[in-house]
Amino acid sequence: MSESWHKLIAENEFPEEGKLATKIAGWHVLVAKTDDGLHAVNDRCTHQAALLSGGRIRRGAIMCPLHGARFELETGRCIGGTYRDLRTFELRVEGGEIEICIPDEAPRIDETPVQG
Ligand code: FES
Repeated sequence: MSESWHKLIAENEFPEEGKLATKIAGWHVLVAKTDDGLHAVNDRCTHQAALLSGGRIRRGAIMCPLHGARFELETGRCIGGTYRDLRTFELRVEGGEIEICIPDEAPRIDETPVQG
């Protein structure tokens, strides 16, 4: 699968609350800042397709706002549950701009969140 880098936002404009939800090339992307730095994951819980970006971040993990599954933001790994891991996206900062590497193909239905 081919991928392309996309500019997101200047690093110094990243929201103070530590997370930013956006849509790039058809993908819902959650970018979050943890003690380890910036991470980008697919903004779609692997349990029942909720948007994860409404969840709380603690100790490097985001908690799904629907039923509480937790996912490590650095690795996408589901912790304390048996759901599939999240897809992660490569992220870099170039010239002060946050850039994210996104597949050129649109997400499958099982990678697309349900939006209420
Ligand atoms: S939809 Fe996320 S835990 Fe159920």
